Amino acid sequence: MRILAFAASLREKSLNRKLIALAAQIGGAEGAEVDLAEFREFEMPLYSGDVDERAGLPPGALKFKRCLERADAVMISAPEYNYSISGVLKNLIDWVSRARPMPWRGKSIYLMSASPSPMGGIRGLWQTRIPLEGCGALVFPDMFALPHANEAFDSNGGLRDSSLAERLRREVVGFVRLAEAIVPICGQPTSLEAQKRQKEIASALEDETELQPQTAEQG
Ligand SMILES: Cc1cc2nc3c(=O)[nH]c(=O)nc-3n(C[C@H](O)[C@H](O)[C@H](O)COP(=O)(O)O)c2cc1C
Repeated sequence: MRILAFAASLREKSLNRKLIALAAQIGGAEGAEVDLAEFREFEMPLYSGDVDERAGLPPGALKFKRCLERADAVMISAPEYNYSISGVLKNLIDWVSRARPMPWRGKSIYLMSASPSPMGGIRGLWQTRIPLEGCGALVFPDMFALPHANEAFDSNGGLRDSSLAERLRREVVGFVRLAEAIVPICGQPTSLEAQKRQKEIASALEDETELQPQTAEQG
């Protein structure tokens, strides 16, 4: 199973990048092929309906869409900004949601957050679920928020707090197992039966995305 993993931060010393690296290690040890991407690779302008109509997805969004299409599942570590979703992540979700077929649909997603605050960014993760689920993604029920993240990592990049480290391990393992179970239903269909089931699911989920009219071919 292929997992696309990234931290939704452009910051060089990003705490979320440290957290996603840990989750990627755990996923890899569980047998997943983890593609650990840099958010900077996907830089893109703010969403504009005019640019969308004229030219479709900008190169950064197109690159992300292709990575997403290759993946069966996604792990994201995203900072909380002002009690809510990070702006750069929302912008990415909006651009990519313009492509058809909807690239987010049927993807299993695991959400994490790291913050120096005592809350760890959990409020932002609840907001992050909304657009992803609106786009047909299957967001894992458990989410991992790392509080006091500026002091949480040891010099090897591991978590100092062993109970938190164990919780992260358990959640990532659970996510990988659930995503593996979902791939035959929602992933790249391998049999005629699986293709039929996937079409039925896609048509049911289509209702959720009908507010986003399709534009010109988006690559
Ligand atoms: C504009 C802005 C708003 C922020 N709002 C919050 C917030 O609401 N809750 C929180 O826990 N941290 C907040 N932070 C702190 C970020 O969580 C912190 O900067 C974090 O390290 C950013 O993630 P990164 O290290 O991966 O870049 C905010 C930071 C900025 C710059």
